[in-house]
Amino acid sequence: MKVLVVGNGGREHALAWKLLQSQQIEFVFCTPGNGGTASLERCQNIPIAVDDFEGISQLAQKEGVSLVVVGPEVPLAKGITDFLQARGLRVFGPTRAGAQIEASKAWAKALMQEAQVPTAHCAVFKDIKAAKSYVKSQGAPIVVKADGLAAGKGVVVAQTLEQAETAIDAIFGGQFGSAGNFVVIEEYLTGQEVSVLALTDGETICPLLPAQDHKRIGEGDIGENTGGMGAYAPTPIATSTLMAKVQTKVLEPIIAALKAKNIDYRGVLYAGLMVTADEDFKVLEFNCRFGDPETQVILPLLQTPLEELLLACIERRLSQMLPITWKPGASATVVAASGGYPGDYVKGKLITGIDDAEMTGAVVFHAGTKRETIQKTSEIYTDGGRVLNVTGTGENFQAALNQAYAGITKIQFEGMYYRRDIGYKVKR
Ligand code: AMP
Ligand code: GLY
Repeated sequence: MKVLVVGNGGREHALAWKLLQSQQIEFVFCTPGNGGTASLERCQNIPIAVDDFEGISQLAQKEGVSLVVVGPEVPLAKGITDFLQARGLRVFGPTRAGAQIEASKAWAKALMQEAQVPTAHCAVFKDIKAAKSYVKSQGAPIVVKADGLAAGKGVVVAQTLEQAETAIDAIFGGQFGSAGNFVVIEEYLTGQEVSVLALTDGETICPLLPAQDHKRIGEGDIGENTGGMGAYAPTPIATSTLMAKVQTKVLEPIIAALKAKNIDYRGVLYAGLMVTADEDFKVLEFNCRFGDPETQVILPLLQTPLEELLLACIERRLSQMLPITWKPGASATVVAASGGYPGDYVKGKLITGIDDAEMTGAVVFHAGTKRETIQKTSEIYTDGGRVLNVTGTGENFQAALNQAYAGITKIQFEGMYYRRDIGYKVKR
């Protein structure tokens, strides 16, 4: 089988890496891929943008690709699945209608209300004055969100009314384009966040190992929000009781509510939860895709061949694949970021030590990297804010974290930053 992976992050490197472990997979194309996918054997990057559906379709048809796996939310929200399916391709990822669950927070909130899914109280506004008078009536802290996709930057957890008002001004002021046509204002919740990624074929829903990520840039979970500075799985806070509740109170009602809207949702349904008290939670958001960096810790523990699961979702026979089997133990990833991220940073720094890092047993998934070959010598350079995800696995969290940290200390690039406290909340 030939597979095409759409995207260029750490998640897509992990997907390609995992797929290539299967005997069934002959070759993987990545559009556009990164320095990590460029370095995998039997894998090739093709410089086609994730929203160039025609280009992706032509490549898949020319190469006889039998499965397209879509990583990011943007092409899903723009309808890549509908487009490629209409050309006879098998695509993993929901249709445009299903992707609204991530692409519009107001739509997702309404769906949660219909399905009676536990979530924060909220109100939706399209008018600046009404939004501001609502935050005044509610008081701070309060959470202000742009309705649409904003690459993780459209949410402000406002500690003061002033911050909330500034956020409302920024959203309606066009900072997020049409993503800011509506603003969602939400009750502030506290607790630990857990990511539950479930595979679904529209009937059967199968959660993967629950993961936690560290979203803040600073140690101790302080400072600005990022795309994620580290992650681990399976997180002990998601007990079997909690996971059973997620299944019956969140995933099943949501799939049923989608079905009632004639949306046949197949792909990953990712519920971002705030665990507010012991085994109790509220849903913060849904995503319509694999999480990043959660995928980089979930896939190393997966034993069932990934492509079989993805095809079973597309062909509505996921029930035949259950139970999914997992390696025992734990997995953790530490993100190496460019200095300055999530603010301004410089790209194009030479990265050394990746091979040495992998000698420790860690797996280095690339995110923002680029491979350049000059006279048969290839070097890897930084090409983004989050650069590498150094992933360790082991019989427990201590072993997994030790391996990840042993790996990352071998790696160097100018300005490299990483958190030294990933996994501090888990019992070792
Ligand atoms: P979202 O994209 O809606 O998940 O929001 C991004 C991040 O903002 C979440 O991962 C949380 O860290 C934070 N957040 C979102 N909603 C809330 C809330 N109601 N209360 C507290 N923090 C929140
Ligand atoms: N790790 C958060 C996300 O993938 O949205």
